[in-house]
Amino acid sequence: MKECRHVAIIMDGNGRWAQAQGLPRTAGHLAGSDNVRTIAIAASDLGIQYLTLYAFSTENWKRSENEVNYIMKLPAVFFKKYMQEFLDRGYRMNILGELDELPKATHRVLQDAMDESKNNTGLNLNICMNYGSQREILLAAKHYAKDVQEGKADLSLDEKGFEKYLMTAGFPPVDLLIRTSGEQRISNYLLWQIAYAELEFVPEAWPAFTPEVFQKCITEYQTRDRRFGGVKNV
Ligand code: FPP
Repeated sequence: MKECRHVAIIMDGNGRWAQAQGLPRTAGHLAGSDNVRTIAIAASDLGIQYLTLYAFSTENWKRSENEVNYIMKLPAVFFKKYMQEFLDRGYRMNILGELDELPKATHRVLQDAMDESKNNTGLNLNICMNYGSQREILLAAKHYAKDVQEGKADLSLDEKGFEKYLMTAGFPPVDLLIRTSGEQRISNYLLWQIAYAELEFVPEAWPAFTPEVFQKCITEYQTRDRRFGGVKNV
C-alpha cells in the first residue's frame, strides 16, 4: 500500500448543491460543514493522519455580506455540535490562515478548538480560514527576512528550513489533493505543499462527497505511480 499521510480537499460546490435543491446557498454551507465531520471520521478510519480542508479563502471576502457573515458564524455551530466527539476520537484541530482578521468571536471559537485539542495525537483536522497560499509564502518570507535581520537565521536556509515558516510547519507534504464539484483549479491553495501531490477532481459537490467517493479517490491514488522526479522502477 502506498502511504497516504496527508490529504487536502478544496470543498467546492456548496452553493450549487443548495441551489439545485431550491435552497439558499447558506444551506449548502451548513450541509458542507456537517460533511466535514463525516469525511474527518472517514479519513481517520482510512489511516490518514492529516486532513487539510479549504473552508474560506482570502478571496472569499468578495461574496455577499450575508454569505460571509453566515460562514463566519459556522465554526461556532460546528464545534458546538461536534467538538466533544472530536476530542473523544482524539482529533487535533489546527486552524490555518490569518486569524487576526476574522471577527473576534470567530477567532475565539477557532482558538478554543485548537487549545482544547492540542494534546491529542489522532487525526490532525486542519481547517483553512482566511487562508491564501501566496500570502502564506509571502508572510513566511517576511518572517525569515526578519530572522536574518535579527541574526536568528542565515542564508544557508534550504527547503526544509523554509517550511518551518509556513502555516503547515511540522506537517508532512500533501500526498493527495482532491477538489470537488468538477472545477479543475488550485485556487491559491497550498501551492508549496502540493509540489509532488497527486491531484484528483471529482464531479460531486462537497455536501455530496460521501465516504464511498472518498474511498474511490484513495483507491485511484493507490494506482498512481509517484516518482517525485525520479525514474520509473522496473
Ligand atoms: C465552496 O463552495 C465552499 C466555500 C467557499 C465554503 C466552504 C465552507 C464550508 C464547507 C464550511 C466549513 C466550515 C467549518 C467551520 C468546518 P461554493 O460556495 O464556492 O460553491 P459554488 O461553487 O457552488 O458556488
